[in-house]
Amino acid sequence: MNHIIECGDTLELIKQIPPESIDLLVTSPPYWAKRVYNGEGEIGSERTPEEYVSRLADFFDELKPYLKPSANIFINIGDTFFGSGAGAWKKYLDEEGNITQVQKDRKEKYFTLKPLQPKIKQNGKLYQNKQLLLIPSRFAIEMQERGWLLRDDIIWQKPNRIPASVTDRLNNTYEHVFHFVLNKKYFFDLDAIKVPGANGRPKNPGDVWAINTQPLKGNHTATFPEELVERIVLCGCPEDGYVFDPFLGTGTTWIVSDRLNRNCIGFEINEDFFSFAQERFKESRGFEQCKLPII
Ligand SMILES: C[S@@+](CC[C@H](N)C(=O)[O-])C[C@H]1O[C@@H](n2cnc3c(N)ncnc32)[C@H](O)[C@@H]1O
Repeated sequence: MNHIIECGDTLELIKQIPPESIDLLVTSPPYWAKRVYNGEGEIGSERTPEEYVSRLADFFDELKPYLKPSANIFINIGDTFFGSGAGAWKKYLDEEGNITQVQKDRKEKYFTLKPLQPKIKQNGKLYQNKQLLLIPSRFAIEMQERGWLLRDDIIWQKPNRIPASVTDRLNNTYEHVFHFVLNKKYFFDLDAIKVPGANGRPKNPGDVWAINTQPLKGNHTATFPEELVERIVLCGCPEDGYVFDPFLGTGTTWIVSDRLNRNCIGFEINEDFFSFAQERFKESRGFEQCKLPII
């Protein structure tokens, strides 16, 4: 396979890719104010949910020229509550406001010592503590307004989701995966992902996908389960075609594309994640068969 896997900023690295060469874009961008991956100014660190949605849509607009007219785009995006995090973080300070060991340990896990949501004044409307911000829906609508054609809002339901310690609302057990296209005619192999029906005949799998999250060793949260990417690659990209993940993270899209005989273009800005992705890929192939670097 001809994989193009590089460490750096996607908006720079993409310039080496010929226009209209990608069959499938599948990705999970950094969510708003959930984690710090790389520090100041990164996607996800915008002051407001509105700024985040607009910047993310700008990002995908820049990638558009590299997609084939028949391309599929699957974007997994998560939600959050206004004000979430700040209270939780205060718990980990001692009486003098110093950082405790618990917070240090959380740093290992989430890469930051600060509350993740910027301080925005409550306005009694969208900005009210406890408000579910509907970021995925805002993002999908913004993309529609910019001309992207939305075909599906897939619910990725997580049967193994650990119950949150909340007492005044239900435990969130799903995320959205939006399926966009550029044109009304596009590649789509539904047969490849059909599931057994009641009468034994294969049927459409529907738009609620129950797939367990798949924890990885180390500090790697927010990774795609391979099964989720597998379904998307099978229906969204022809064999030998090009799959693109602009936020490669730990390399799930790369590993799955390789296994399913698709080429993968993947860019990741964080060096630690990039090395981890390479290790994972080597492991998935069996070390001796893998010739790195893969360009
Ligand atoms: C939610 S994670 C992706 C996880 C991935 N789906 C996996 O299975 O591991 C988002 C990733 O995007 C990376 N990232 C953020 N901004 C980037 C940029 N401009 N270019 C490339 N990678 C970026 C972050 O470092 C992070 O690893």
